[in-house]
This record gives sequence, C-alpha cells and structure tokens, in this order.
Amino acid sequence: MVKLCGIGAGYVGGPTMAVIALKCPSIEVAVVDISQSRISAWNSDKLPIYEPGLENVVKQCRGKNLIFSTDVERHVQEADIIFVSVNTPTKARGLGAGKAADLTYWESAARMIADVCTSDKIVVEKSTVPVRTAEAIEQILAHKSKGIKYQILSNPEFLSEGTAVQDLLEPDRVLIGGNEGPEGQEAIKKLKDIYAHWVSEDKIITTNIWSAELSKLADNAFLAQRISSINAMSALCEATGAQVSQVSLALSKNPKIGPRFLNASVGFGGSCFQKDILNLVYICECNGLVEVANYWKQVIKVNDYQKSRFVQRVVSSMFNTVSGKKIAVLGFAFKKDTSDTRKTPAIDVCKGLLGDDACLSIYDPRVSADQIKKDLSMNNVQWDHPIHLQPLSSSSSNGLEHVDIAEDVYEATKDAHGICILTEWDEFKGIDFQRVFDDMQKPAFVFDGRNILDVGKLREIGFIVYSIGSPVEQWLNNTVNSAVPF
Ligand code: NAD
Ligand code: UDX
Repeated sequence: MVKLCGIGAGYVGGPTMAVIALKCPSIEVAVVDISQSRISAWNSDKLPIYEPGLENVVKQCRGKNLIFSTDVERHVQEADIIFVSVNTPTKARGLGAGKAADLTYWESAARMIADVCTSDKIVVEKSTVPVRTAEAIEQILAHKSKGIKYQILSNPEFLSEGTAVQDLLEPDRVLIGGNEGPEGQEAIKKLKDIYAHWVSEDKIITTNIWSAELSKLADNAFLAQRISSINAMSALCEATGAQVSQVSLALSKNPKIGPRFLNASVGFGGSCFQKDILNLVYICECNGLVEVANYWKQVIKVNDYQKSRFVQRVVSSMFNTVSGKKIAVLGFAFKKDTSDTRKTPAIDVCKGLLGDDACLSIYDPRVSADQIKKDLSMNNVQWDHPIHLQPLSSSSSNGLEHVDIAEDVYEATKDAHGICILTEWDEFKGIDFQRVFDDMQKPAFVFDGRNILDVGKLREIGFIVYSIGSPVEQWLNNTVNSAVPF
C-alpha cells in the first residue's frame, strides 16, 4: 500500500488530502500539522474550516484510509510521497518585508524531512512558492541526505475556497512539474498515477519544475488582474453613465475574454491574490525587471483604490460624516461560502469607517465574533511601506469599542443609517428589505459592494442605493438634495 503524508492541515492540505483519500481507497493518507487545535478539530465533528461538501468527504474516509495527527515525524518517515501544504505568507519584517514570501514554515518542514527520513522520498510542493524554491529545498535535503534520494515535484493547487471540494473532485487541470531526467520523470509518473484514479489524463499537465512554480503565481496574478481591470472600469462607469454589469456582459460574450471573474466588487480579498502578486513583484525586482514589477504592482494599487473609494463613497454620501452613525456591515468573509477572513476587503472598509468614527454593527453568517474583532485589532502590513506587525492596544485608538457583532441581519440593521454589503452571501438576496427599511434611520442608505441586490426594488421601498459601477448621477437623483457627491 502506498503511503502519503500531507504536511499542513489548512485550507489546502486538509481538503486536498481528504479528496485523495476518498478517490484512492488503496492509499493510506496521513495529514499532519504542528497545530494541536487544528488536528483536534479535524478529528472532531466541527472541522476547522467550512467548505461545502467537506464534512461528507472527511466522514467517509476518516479512520479508514485517512488520519489526522500531530505525530509529524512518524508519518513523514513512513510515507512514500510527502505533500507540503504549509503556509507561505508575505514576510512581515527583514529583507523583502511586505513583498517576499516568508518561507520559514517551508524551510522548517524541509529540515524536519531531512532529519527524520530513512528511505527515498518524493517531496511535493503544494504550497505556492517563489519560482526556484525547489532548488533551495533540494539543497536542504541534500545536505543531510545520508544516501537517501529525494525527488522534488511542484504540484501547485488551484482550488478556490468555497468550492474547494468541487474543484478537487473535478479539477480543470492538474499541474505537475519535475526534473527532466529519468528519475524526475519517474517521480512525475508516480504522482500522475495517484491523480489518474479520478482525473482524466488530458487534464494532467506536466512541465519542468520552474514552469510549474511560476505558473501558479502567474495564474493568480492573471485572475487578480482581471478583477482590478473590471474594478477600474467600474470607477469609469460611475463617472460616465455606463453600467459596469452591462459592460461585463458585453465583454463576457467575447470568447477571447470569457465570462468569469468579471464581477466588479469592493475589491478582491483572500489569502492568495495579494500575497502571490507581491511575491511576483519581489521576484521581478530581484531580477532587475522593474517595469514588469511595476505592472503587477498596479493590480494591487487598483484594489486598494477600490476599497478606499468605497469608504469615501459611504462617508461622502452620508453628508460627509458617519461620526456616531450606526452602519450595518453585512458580510465579513472575503467571499461567500467560506469562513475565511484573510485579507478580506471588509477589514479595510471597516477600518476606514471606524477612522471616520462610525459605529459598526457587523453580521456574517459564518465568521465568529472573535475572528472579526481579532482582524480589526491587527495593524495591516503596508505592502508599499512595510511596518512591523503589531497588534494595536485595546485602548480606544483601534475603535473596537464602536464595533458590535450582530446575530442576524435584522439586529445589525435596526436603527442603522446605512448598510454596506461586503460579502455576496446568498442569504442577503432574501432579506426582507421593507422590514429593514422600516426599522432604519432615514434617509436610509444601502451601499452594495457586491452588486447582488435589486436596486430598483430597494429604491421603490425608499432606500438611497449606491452600487459599484452604477452611474453616480442615477443614484444621486434618488438621494436627498443635501447628499454630497463624491
Ligand atoms: P493555512 O495557514 O490554512 O495552513 C497551513 C498549515 O500548515 C497550518 O495549519 C500550519 O499550522 C501548518 N504548518 C506550518 N508549518 C508546519 C510544519 N513545519 N509542520 C507541520 N505543519 C505546519 O494555509 P493554506 O491556506 O492551506 O495555504 C497553504 C499553501 O497553499 C500556501 O502556500 C498558499 O499560498 C497555498 N494555496 C492556498 C489556497 C487557498 O485557497 N487557501 C489555494 C491554493 C494554494
Ligand atoms: C483564488 C484563485 O481563484 C484560486 O485559483 C487559487 O488557487 C487561490 O486563490 P480564492 O482566493 O479562494 O481563489 O477565491 P476567488 O474565487 O478567486 O476570489 C478571490 C477574491 O476575488 C474574492 O474576494 C472574490 O470576492 C473576488 N472576486 C472574484 C471579485 O471581486 N470578482 C470576481 O469576478 C471574482
């Protein structure tokens, strides 16, 4: 029986290894992590992450050919193939702070592999890493090889949160990069054979290792660039009378452009896009490619602009002050169907509003009150002016005393002056807006940062509605005269 070990039981490691276990009953899969609490949660009825369908997959395999354990060394030693899915965040301090990938976790995993292994291994990079990381890993492993042969493969993960299980069950592609010599090709074949249990051969792409590493960064950069492109258009739509949803529709019918990732929004979030673009920028800078670095930086600049534009819109529409006003924030996760708040645009928007002395009542169907407060109490690392990551003190300076976490939409919106929709949860499409309106202060504002609401219906009820990329004139005509245009 082939044995696999997945190091890192996070958003990638947990679902990826669970789906391999489901599809390959003849393979023993151990998922290991240094975090006791994460492993305990994987072994409990309440998994550490929320993903539709994940509970079902885990329940089918756990205790059979899938185990979760903190006994990292034993499972690494016993495995034939080791998948490394540890976190690779942006460096917060030192050389490259604010941009470069922090490979501390990766390096410590590699050193541990080198320390404990007593037989040949295939080591698979699942984490997103800078191009040529495999070379560094190889050096660490070779240093203590004790005659053991290691083959490093790059097998980046393309799943999206919220659809992780579906993406893993039916991937659009599986990318495997390896060394071009016979041993590298043999290792590629072994990994291919695992995926071949459920993925058709035409979807499995094999490349050299550097292409696979760089393809992952390029993939995320292209996706984020598309969102920044449509968000840049949304600003122009507001100024010119065009409708961004109509522009998106027109673009989507061009087969050379395609329909996906054209939704204008308050900005992209998530743990990957910003981190991976900054990583790319850093690599370009290190290679003297300043123009290329600047090109990709602009994707993040537009994203930052979109978030601050949204805050300015809220404040300027509400008569240039939100001081002491209750604003309901609906949605905190970085997208629907996940409890993940890493780099969610909601953090920047909430901090912007708190900076203008608003009182926030935040509701998210999946994010805990503790998580929201923790996120709002941390200082951002400024990617263009890196500072050290330090939690703010609990004094009044972080505005947390003006943050209230609500149990539902109706509690959040009661007596509010305005509503900001920051995550596109389906639940928000079914809100009884007449009831909400009746319980709000007047004039009652809605700022739809995800373009999910029926603007016409809201205006009929009496709301003043702003939605991203809708002509400003159109919604201003509907506002009271004293509303100040942005
Ligand atoms: P995560 O923070 O959710 O999980 C990483 C886990 O690794 C943590 O539980 C941590 O405790 C564990 N870990 C760290 N060092 C360890 C060590 N030495 N030994 C054992 N365990 C260790 O991160 P994630 O979101 O799963 O991302 C992991 C990697 O996958 C990152 O490189 C990320 O860029 C990439 N990725 C993420 C996504 C996504 O949607 N989250 C998608 C594709 C790729
Ligand atoms: C992304 C990549 O899509 C995935 O391939 C990679 O493996 C990990 O990073 P993820 O971050 O989970 O996945 O979610 P994604 O669906 O890409 O959304 C990222 C952000 O962009 C979210 O905040 C989302 O709301 C936003 N978004 C997405 C838009 O604003 N508009 C869109 O049209 C699409």
